[in-house]
Amino acid sequence: MLSFQGENILSVNQLDREAIELIFDVAKRMEPYAKKHKRTQVLEGAVLANLFFEPSTRTRVSFGTAFNLLGGLVRETTGMQSSALAKGESLYDTARVISAYADAVAMRHPDAGSVAEFATGSDVPVLNGGDGPNEHPTQALLDLLTIDRELNRFDRSVDGMHIALVGDLKYGRTVHSLSKLLCHYKNIKFSMVAPDGLQMPDYVLDAVSNAGHQIELVSQMEGNLAADIVYQTRIQEERFPSQEEANKYRGGFRISQAIYDAHCKPESVLMHPLPRDSRSDANELDNDLNSNDNLAIFRQVQNGVLIRMALFALTLGVENKVQQYETNVPWFSRKRQS
Ligand code: CP
Repeated sequence: MLSFQGENILSVNQLDREAIELIFDVAKRMEPYAKKHKRTQVLEGAVLANLFFEPSTRTRVSFGTAFNLLGGLVRETTGMQSSALAKGESLYDTARVISAYADAVAMRHPDAGSVAEFATGSDVPVLNGGDGPNEHPTQALLDLLTIDRELNRFDRSVDGMHIALVGDLKYGRTVHSLSKLLCHYKNIKFSMVAPDGLQMPDYVLDAVSNAGHQIELVSQMEGNLAADIVYQTRIQEERFPSQEEANKYRGGFRISQAIYDAHCKPESVLMHPLPRDSRSDANELDNDLNSNDNLAIFRQVQNGVLIRMALFALTLGVENKVQQYETNVPWFSRKRQS
């Protein structure tokens, strides 16, 4: 019987199709609590250390929200300068200290491999919230859950789909993790749509190719967006050697309603891990798409809470006890209407 109790979630390489399906099954069972139909106190008394050493809105807040929705408490630190890492403390020592206080850790850090290094010193499960340009496993899971749900609306499935990954595929860790997860599915066509210099790293292309999927590497959006899923990424300016280098790419890959009408299919689903760069000279996904029913970006955000709740329930061994600690919600919530 597959179990995640006590495990770290550091990379999608840990996950096979059975593991993905278990996580999705538990995530779906979290819906009544995320929608505030019911509340649960299954993690009452448990403490999450939410350590974000790089900017974040969604991942940080949704990890905290997910833990709170299961009845647990959250302690948070943000930014390198407000932690003892700025005084030269090692990740190992920080982990020994933090895991003396907490029952689980969610962490983001700018360096590839840093979260795994931290986990070597932790006595409690560590969940990777993004380690530099390397991986973002919980984002990949929420993206995959979203793809599955969106395609189901059109009687399609992940197996056999066509996905266009668009933008900064070199530094965009979400597309690295998502591509590797999709290796557990069958017969997918990948259009890797990136400017020269920002194509998908070879190790990801090799994994996708070895899984038997079809890959097209292209450098322009025109003619390459007629996919079931169009997954746009932000130019990861913070990972470029210089701002000058990053500026060369800003605004190169924009999708507006006019571009959608001209180049996508009527049922193409638009996704983005967010944040979308909405500055006027970047404008990655134009605001005029906000009323497009196939813009799934805010449904991705909702699915992120479900996935992170599921991972906490699984790693803390309470996935089958959530209902037992359930109570009614007496207060009004707009979420219940949806
Ligand atoms: N998608 C994502 O990782 O967003 P944040 O940087 O806001 O956490």
